Amino acid sequence: MSVIPESAPVAAAFRPFPAGFLWGTATSAYQIEGAAAEDGRTPSVWDTFCRTPGAVHAGDTGDVAADHYHRLREDVELMAGLGVNAYRFSVSWSRVQPTGRGPALERGLDFYRALVDELLGHGIEPALTLYHWDLPQELEDAGGWPARETAERFADYAALVAGALGDRVGVWTTLNEPWCSAFLGYGSGVHAPGRTDPVAALRAAHHLNLGHGLATSALRSLLPDTARLGVCLNLHVVRPASDSAADHDAARRIDALGSRIFTGPMLDGAYPEDLLADTAAVTDWGFVADGDAATIHQPLDVLGLNYYTPTVVSAPTGAAEPARADGHGASDHSPWPGAEDVTFHQPPGERTAMGWAIDPSGLYDMLTRLSREHPELPLLVTENGMACDDTVDPAGAVRDSQRVAYVRDHLDAVHRAVTDGADVRGYFLWSLMDNFEWAYGYDRRFGIVHVDFATQRRVLKDSARWYATVARANGLPASSQEPSDG
Ligand code: FCB
Repeated sequence: MSVIPESAPVAAAFRPFPAGFLWGTATSAYQIEGAAAEDGRTPSVWDTFCRTPGAVHAGDTGDVAADHYHRLREDVELMAGLGVNAYRFSVSWSRVQPTGRGPALERGLDFYRALVDELLGHGIEPALTLYHWDLPQELEDAGGWPARETAERFADYAALVAGALGDRVGVWTTLNEPWCSAFLGYGSGVHAPGRTDPVAALRAAHHLNLGHGLATSALRSLLPDTARLGVCLNLHVVRPASDSAADHDAARRIDALGSRIFTGPMLDGAYPEDLLADTAAVTDWGFVADGDAATIHQPLDVLGLNYYTPTVVSAPTGAAEPARADGHGASDHSPWPGAEDVTFHQPPGERTAMGWAIDPSGLYDMLTRLSREHPELPLLVTENGMACDDTVDPAGAVRDSQRVAYVRDHLDAVHRAVTDGADVRGYFLWSLMDNFEWAYGYDRRFGIVHVDFATQRRVLKDSARWYATVARANGLPASSQEPSDG
């Protein structure tokens, strides 16, 4: 049955993407693998966090998740059936180096060798992320990301993975969304390890930056010249609620804490002066050692952008408690050290099942900004997608037309950015399949493949079929063939 309704809002011709464009889907280890205690894997901070009463919706855990560890062949077959040519996944650190130190566990690496071989066998390019939030618990017990040593251990771990997969993986990203690791993990505490200490959060941000630099330099020395190295950042698209100078200043502060705290040292070689000034009452940044700036500032071949929704802020409104509709989960503790009084506003209009406002122009704005600021740096959209309340209907179909419209409109924004000169090389839809959505457990579905977690049955949603046509055609269909928003 066709998923393509008759009418479409605006007339647009077929929009081709550049030759060689990567059409992928994305996942992460803890969210899909399961097999949490198999083959020598030890707990990560997320295994521990899931067992903290009240931390995760309904007490859900990643123990089984989408059981991908046992279904990798079936899952790669699914991708191959969609005609996508790339797949972004992450490696579980505690599966391949259980204590976070010392030699690799070959059984753990074997799983990723098998996955990569299977992908390559189906003509799907693997794009590997080394760290998607699952720090081995032993390293957290030794201080976690607020401790400098964790950055050094991360580089050792990167080298182990490079040794095992360097001959067959072409795209390597170090960290996924270090903002979340630092500020949700150690600031607001809504993510593992659930600490709520603003100084620890800023220390974590610095050591994540340092870990990125050390790991990139280790990878550079071990991988073939053809390997493309980068990082995946959830840069915040920050908009002032009004044109007032005070609201613009609030936006500048959140841009510094949400984005430039990473792009500054990674891409420009220094922390922004305004960030250091804004956070001076929290810390003197004495944990930054001589030489760190140079270590973090590694040449990169690609920058991964994860984008879902924009952030609207204003100066304090005088309310006793500043509103914090920043989309990052409720907590009594702010994930914005030194900017706790900034007010976050819920933008009007349509929202996803996460409550996130739908606004593709934010993706266009960030891609074109990055391309202006770093014209030599190729870009990848390493995550974009939406949560919907999907159900399988009696006919066995999942009619997720809202997700199709979301992806179509965001791809249209990518296409406009490319037309306007941004060097975007690929798009990875979050996510291949429904999975463990962190603090929301299994209560939010982002997949283009539906997973029944009781039976592990996979069912293609309409969005999967639609995305397959786009990937195969290497372009967006003319609007007369596009789905409506309904
Ligand atoms: C991003 C995460 C990813 C997923 C999506 C919805 O912040 O990187 O794991 O949870 O959000």
